[in-house]
Amino acid sequence: MVSVAFVCLGNICRSPMAELIFKNLLDERGLSSDFRVSSFGTSDCEEGSAIYPQAKKTLVMHGIPGSHTARQISLADVKNSDYILVMDSGNLMDILRLTGGKYGEKIFKLCSFTASPRDVADPWYTRDFERAYEDILDGCKSFLGYVLNNKSSLYGKKI
Ligand code: 4NP
Repeated sequence: MVSVAFVCLGNICRSPMAELIFKNLLDERGLSSDFRVSSFGTSDCEEGSAIYPQAKKTLVMHGIPGSHTARQISLADVKNSDYILVMDSGNLMDILRLTGGKYGEKIFKLCSFTASPRDVADPWYTRDFERAYEDILDGCKSFLGYVLNNKSSLYGKKI
């Protein structure tokens, strides 16, 4: 079992999109029982909120099911995860502040696994939820390929 936590600032746009997109990829590939997938915000500013309406609409347009309630990440959540996948450099700094610089070996920017490492475009500011979806899908597919190539318990499973 590989545990993956996606992290953004508010946990209402990017990281819940990533959680549901990644769960959908796993479901399509028959890999759901090999992973535990969650998402969190570095901030408590949206604690208890549902997925932001335009993020939810974008997921629905792409046939991605599911819902999520926003929650702030704790140090225990970091300890209990194999991979912490943040959306941008600001999230990375916030998480390392939370951990006091520890656990760096399992904290990555999601799009660092892609052919063109970058931050996920933040739709809170760009208002371009489709672009965020494309960045997140690219990151999730690339990360899944990385895990399947590197986790011996998953060798032989198809990307
Ligand atoms: P998220 O988006 O981090 O992708 O969930 C944001 C949500 C809320 C705020 C900023 C970004 N905010 O400033 O309240």
